[in-house]
Amino acid sequence: MIKKGIILLGGKGKRLKPLTNYLSKHLLPVYNKPMFYYSLSTLIYANIKEILIICNEKDLQIYKKILIPISKKHNIKFLFEIQKNPAGGVAECLKIGSQFIKSCKRFVLILGDNFFFGREFPKILMKAINKKKSFVFLSSVKNPKNFGIAKFNKKNKLIKIIEKPTSITSNLAVTGLYVYNSKSISHLKSIKRSKRGELEITSFNNALIKKNSLDYINLGFGITWFDLGTFSNLYECSEFVRLQENRKGIQISKLI
Ligand code: DAU
Repeated sequence: MIKKGIILLGGKGKRLKPLTNYLSKHLLPVYNKPMFYYSLSTLIYANIKEILIICNEKDLQIYKKILIPISKKHNIKFLFEIQKNPAGGVAECLKIGSQFIKSCKRFVLILGDNFFFGREFPKILMKAINKKKSFVFLSSVKNPKNFGIAKFNKKNKLIKIIEKPTSITSNLAVTGLYVYNSKSISHLKSIKRSKRGELEITSFNNALIKKNSLDYINLGFGITWFDLGTFSNLYECSEFVRLQENRKGIQISKLI
């Protein structure tokens, strides 16, 4: 197997309470589909046939059930792991998935609350998968303090990612989509938990930058990206999907 995918469907969904008191954030509706359909379809468009789902223990059975028809229709093998601590951090999930990752050359990690849309997007993703280095995907944002933000030198080389910066170095956010060379996970050993107790994906990416193993692709204006972790984004993205589908007569991420 050359390439595999991992989707994160855990976390606490703190910013979406009370909706997430009993329901996994990734099952909330984004217009007419559960949120995680959109991230899952990103992996499906990249022709990935083996996908690891990492979720909280309480949600395991529901995800297993929902994914049966999708697995059949798209000929995808789903595997499942539980993250015991819902706030252990995104990079902790790479540790959890390390056995799964070992048997492939490249893997794509996507956060289940991310949404990407654009005609060129699958091509861009495939291009990154077919290279050797690891990649992050950047998109401009109006509120950099809420994201991992890219810092560049004068030659536009990525020199650091700053998680939720207090002062602004750029408006280019690191989206929740990552393409990794599987060997890179050896660098997980070197990262430490952050102040909020998480193994941060940003710490892992910074370790790769130090080894000159991480590159970036700026998604630019042609690709729309939403992080669906807030009420406003959930609402705006629902409206975006509704507009696209109703005006163009298309279906976005219709998996079954
Ligand atoms: O969406 C892009 C942003 O995602 C990046 O710009 C940041 O660098 C990155 O740290 C992340 O920031 P968030 O604050 O949005 O991460 P959040 O804690 O909301 O979790 C993102 C997704 O990952 C969400 O779908 C839940 C899942 N997750 C999160 C954690 C911390 C897990 O499955 N397990 C976890 O331990």
